[in-house]
Amino acid sequence: MKENLVLENSKEREIINYVSEKNALIDSKAVEQLAAEESFREIIDELLQENSFLITSEKVNTKLLKKDTKIGRVKEVIIKSTRFKAAAKEQEPNYKILHEYDVTDQSSCEGNVKDFMMLFRDKFEFLSEILKKRPQFSPKQISKLSRVSKNSDTEFVGMVYRKWQTKNDHLAIELEDNEASCIVLILKDDFKLNKLAEHLLLDDVIGVKARKIGDELFIAKEIFWPDLPQRPIKRAERNLSIVGISDLHVGSKLFLEKEFSNFIEWINGNTDSEKEKERIGRIKYLLICGDNVDGVGVYPDQFDELAIKDVFEQYDNLAELMKKIPEYIEVFIIPGQHDATRRADPQPAIPKEFRKNLAGYGNIHFLGSPTWVTIEGLKCMLYHGASLHDLYTSVNFLKASEPQKAMAELLKRRDIMITYGLRQPYVPEKKDYMLIREEPDFYFGGDMHHNGYDQYRGCSIINCGTWQERTEFQIQLGHIPTPGIAVEVDLNTREIREKQFYGGRNSK
Ligand SMILES: [Fe+2]
Repeated sequence: MKENLVLENSKEREIINYVSEKNALIDSKAVEQLAAEESFREIIDELLQENSFLITSEKVNTKLLKKDTKIGRVKEVIIKSTRFKAAAKEQEPNYKILHEYDVTDQSSCEGNVKDFMMLFRDKFEFLSEILKKRPQFSPKQISKLSRVSKNSDTEFVGMVYRKWQTKNDHLAIELEDNEASCIVLILKDDFKLNKLAEHLLLDDVIGVKARKIGDELFIAKEIFWPDLPQRPIKRAERNLSIVGISDLHVGSKLFLEKEFSNFIEWINGNTDSEKEKERIGRIKYLLICGDNVDGVGVYPDQFDELAIKDVFEQYDNLAELMKKIPEYIEVFIIPGQHDATRRADPQPAIPKEFRKNLAGYGNIHFLGSPTWVTIEGLKCMLYHGASLHDLYTSVNFLKASEPQKAMAELLKRRDIMITYGLRQPYVPEKKDYMLIREEPDFYFGGDMHHNGYDQYRGCSIINCGTWQERTEFQIQLGHIPTPGIAVEVDLNTREIREKQFYGGRNSK
């Protein structure tokens, strides 16, 4: 009881400090009223903008009672005050942003040939080192394979330079390392290896066990990717959770404003169920996996599909929504192809000029894509997902409705950047930010507008859906999205649960 009192007083003190920083005055009743509001800063800002330096309880009342007010094009979400006591509010956040794996403020690309060479060297060296650590595998450099006698077994590592079907219907693969190259055949009657080779893409770095049959010519007996090791599932000590969402597309005529407002109500504890309230109260982290706004000029004829035709205004509307997330929740936001940062991977964070309205919100973090954050001791990799489009078109066993399977393919490669030079552009940074340098406990993605979940070698794969209605383009493709779902991840049990805000399924 005493502890609550102290906390409430500290909130009131925060309000008084905030108002005095703005050279304004506030009456004591107004302080009391605002202490019940998570978004008190925003309310104060709005009141001060209305040419008043004195904040009275009357003015606060009017503000709180105002419903369905338009701010830009997104209706203001009024959070009803409840007796919601979130356990997560009482706990200090425990996270670490791994800046060394995020290109934000570190881009050093000059776009010359040397940059490309450094990128590929970094990729090959990192991935071949993982392969070399594999038990019962002692690879030789390809240039040293000339010393291996014919009909002997040998082992090596290489990057796939090209692959083709021979006239005898075997699969031929040209592999190269930093110095030399060789040809590996997968014989047509080796069903198991041919099945595995369906996953093989250009630029993959693989380990090979093979028999030498001629100069620089080998028959494959085994092929494997760097991969994650088999690991037990790691659990956080504290009983807290993450919520994952993605692809809001604020500014699109198809943005699901009502459903998203309901989500904000929910995350503020507005539910009748006490059991659910307890669950919501354990949410300490919110991850948003890109395409936060719809952008402008992202694809031809987009202009007609926009409710907000100015990208700054789109971000202002996004900011209004983010301000409604309780401040004890740490929010991590990465960009997607629709956001106002470079489209090529790795993407730096959304630049500051687009998020000025959130400058005072220390709980809202803008990061690049990909990026890594350790949350409650668990490593989370976040990547919007653009590289996966090239993966879908390069193989025939993946479906857009099962993004989790495509995501597992990246984990297997320990590389987000698959074949270079297809549709997805990559900036050849001197360091390869697309490599999966750590062993993630979580991989959060978005982009496909379709939820999907999997467990892969100790890593929970979570693809978040969208808050945009089905688009004309998706109708043409026959793709059915899964809109309006918030994904709750219990960090202690690693249980994943969906909360549906788009009618049907689990919604209340
Ligand atoms: Fe999207």
